[in-house]
Amino acid sequence: MGKEIETHSIDDLPGVGPATAEKLRDAGYTDVMSIAVSSPKELTDAAEIGESTGAKMILQARKLANIGEFETGAVLMDRRSKVGRITTGSKTFDELLGGGFETQSIIELFGEFGSSKTQIAHQLCVTVQLPKEQGGMGKGAYFIDTENTFRPERIVQMAEALDLDPEEVLENIHVARAYNSSHQMLLVEKVVEMAKEKPGGLLIVDSLTAHFRAEYVGRGALADRQQKLNKHMHDLLRWSDLNNGAVCVTNQVSSKPDAFFGDPTRPIGGHIVGHTATFRIYLRKSKGPKRIARLIDSPHLPEGEAVFTVKQEGIRN
Ligand SMILES: Nc1ncnc2c1ncn2[C@@H]1O[C@H](COP(=O)(O)OP(=O)(O)O)[C@@H](O)[C@H]1O
Ligand SMILES: [Mg+2]
Repeated sequence: MGKEIETHSIDDLPGVGPATAEKLRDAGYTDVMSIAVSSPKELTDAAEIGESTGAKMILQARKLANIGEFETGAVLMDRRSKVGRITTGSKTFDELLGGGFETQSIIELFGEFGSSKTQIAHQLCVTVQLPKEQGGMGKGAYFIDTENTFRPERIVQMAEALDLDPEEVLENIHVARAYNSSHQMLLVEKVVEMAKEKPGGLLIVDSLTAHFRAEYVGRGALADRQQKLNKHMHDLLRWSDLNNGAVCVTNQVSSKPDAFFGDPTRPIGGHIVGHTATFRIYLRKSKGPKRIARLIDSPHLPEGEAVFTVKQEGIRN
């Protein structure tokens, strides 16, 4: 199914000329699947086309994307059985997650500045490269960096602590700076392309929400922001399904009151990000290097907490 989606682009759909294609892409409809799951009204708003044109586009997109096909429980079970788990480096943290960060899912890390979101992201880029028996996927990582916080030196420290060749580990991490939210979304497409040649077991977006928060300011922009974030999350989820990879996104909770977005202790993106993420982990600071992870809203694991520490060698018990 995945292959067929990949071979078609939105330009193949009826009624989509270059100008319409550009408007659709600008609004976040970058692939056939995103159109297949939208409504004529949404397309009308996004690309200034008639509703009947939109309806035709959607019908064709559904055909191309093979949408609406049922799968048997056995097929789903087989896919579930391929789920991998990437170790965090801390046994208690892994146990909280049923063995580590699951592939075929999105894990949202949210917490205040300094709660160790970026440290965990670095750690996973290293551990994903370990063989399966040691808690990895034997694959590389993709890192979309929106705040310029990726540090190769940190990777080297963490790799050395695991007796891995630091140069080799760095070679298997593909990092891109995202300069704004549309660039960030475009980079996911780039990862989809690159992953065909260089499969990854992990895709990090650190931070998922910072650009969106800065660019979509005020009540009037809220609906737009949510729509884009929704599309972004679904692109990420699709990557994780097609690649049997884990997607880890970070979301900073502000400790400062923020007039525009209501309750400052809530992660932005609200229910959009929350409902699409498979796991949500709330991180908070404790004494010194100690951090507390709290699992929230997991589909099959109990809520709970784990204490871990951030050390020179990485995340540990
Ligand atoms: N080399 C290191 N050794 C030990 N702790 C570190 C190291 N580098 C960073 N840290 C810890 O990580 C924390 C920063 O966490 P970070 O992941 O950047 O937070 P967030 O991304 O949630 O804002 C710092 O408070 C620091 O204590
Ligand atoms: Mg950070």
